[in-house]
Amino acid sequence: MASAGTTRSSAVLRLLGWIARRFGGARTQGLSFGGSLSMLPDRSLFPLFRNGLDPVAEVGSLRERAPVSRLPVPVPIRVWLATGYEPVRQVLGSADGFSNDFGAFAARVGLTAAAEPGGLGMADPPMHTRLRRLIMPEFTMHRLARLQPRIETIVSDRLDAMARIDGPVDLLQEFALPVPALTICELLGVPYADRGLVQEFSAARFDLGGGAYAPLDAINESKAYLRNLVAAQRREPGDGLIGSLIRAHGDELDDQELAGLADGVLTGGLETSASMLALGALVLMTQPELAEPLRSGEPADALVEELLRYLTVVQVAFPRFAVRDLELAGVTIKAGDVVMCSLSAADRDGVLGPGMERIEVGRPTSRSHLAFGHGLHRCVGAELARMELRTAYPALVRRFPAMRPAIDPASLPTRRASIVFGLEELPVTLE
Ligand code: HEM
Repeated sequence: MASAGTTRSSAVLRLLGWIARRFGGARTQGLSFGGSLSMLPDRSLFPLFRNGLDPVAEVGSLRERAPVSRLPVPVPIRVWLATGYEPVRQVLGSADGFSNDFGAFAARVGLTAAAEPGGLGMADPPMHTRLRRLIMPEFTMHRLARLQPRIETIVSDRLDAMARIDGPVDLLQEFALPVPALTICELLGVPYADRGLVQEFSAARFDLGGGAYAPLDAINESKAYLRNLVAAQRREPGDGLIGSLIRAHGDELDDQELAGLADGVLTGGLETSASMLALGALVLMTQPELAEPLRSGEPADALVEELLRYLTVVQVAFPRFAVRDLELAGVTIKAGDVVMCSLSAADRDGVLGPGMERIEVGRPTSRSHLAFGHGLHRCVGAELARMELRTAYPALVRRFPAMRPAIDPASLPTRRASIVFGLEELPVTLE
């Protein structure tokens, strides 16, 4: 029979393990998650709920009243929720006050090293610095520029494929998912022959209904695929990230580590960009005045930034573990406490300017949005994501000027209590 200590640890482990898995890039051997969030009551999950595209009112009112407050969770650790822009930025920017190291935290609450989820987002310096330095060269503007023509081709091929479909088209499956999946294939150097397979398990990761196989199976399958790809490229390094890593650091990294880095990139870049593409397209259909400038050739840069802020699809950042006692917005956080940062709440904070609950392209802002995070763990793929969005939105609205939702937008199914907010489907009529 489990002791009280074991039960306590396993509850903490399940909660944090779930978070680790949802954030992606996390190796999850030895963890049991129960597969869903059903273990957590709604009162713990409300920061992940939305009302339409908006964070629920409760999050906004907390931000006004108590920008750092206790999040009630059914585990014996203190978890705080930061909703204000300033405290969120402070936490994300404070590498000496907070740790991302799940393993160290797990050890403190008496869990074994086997539970270490790993991955860039859950590592601290010097490990984090080392891992990030390995992949950063592939994300410089110079290296990314080679992907721009490929993204344009991917986008136009997908638009052609959509045009061939009779009747309503699911924009999520036909466009929003394949565009980032195929872009990441380019980035990683996945051979053309395998891209159909990568698209299949990328789509399955989204398939919350169970479908052909469950998302967890799809995640395992994609990891197995990446391990095989690494082994193949070890013999013959390709042009992409995996090949570059093998050429430059092949001696320092084993296949498991290489596959882990590739998986972190796939997980970090797929769901996020796909959600932005689908939700952004929905906004452009429901507020057509925003699409007009794109059709007349204006650059999409300002619109993309405003959509990133407004939609802030990564709703909360990786959990941060306080390494010492500190003050946050007048609240004392104790060493060992966990802080969850609501990026979606912070990006609607009035300190950014008035009217943050609506979209206003090109308005002057005093501070930058937090949709890609801030500080040490700021999104590695931010520029790549921008390239995809700046290419895809204008091409979409130009190619299908009459595109509209095939069902009432208010009844579109959204992902429930998901760290990455998004639609489950987006049926559209093209003509
Ligand atoms: C619109 C699309 C995207 C959004 C909104 C987004 C958002 C974020 C956010 C908020 C974080 C920081 C989390 C934190 O500090 O706790 C992050 C980290 C990360 N993102 Fe993205 N992301 C996007 C696209 C991408 C792409 C395209 C890639 C790669 C191809 C990527 C790879 C990563 C990685 C590897 C990290 C971890 C960085 C670290 O811990 O040092 N993301 N992303």
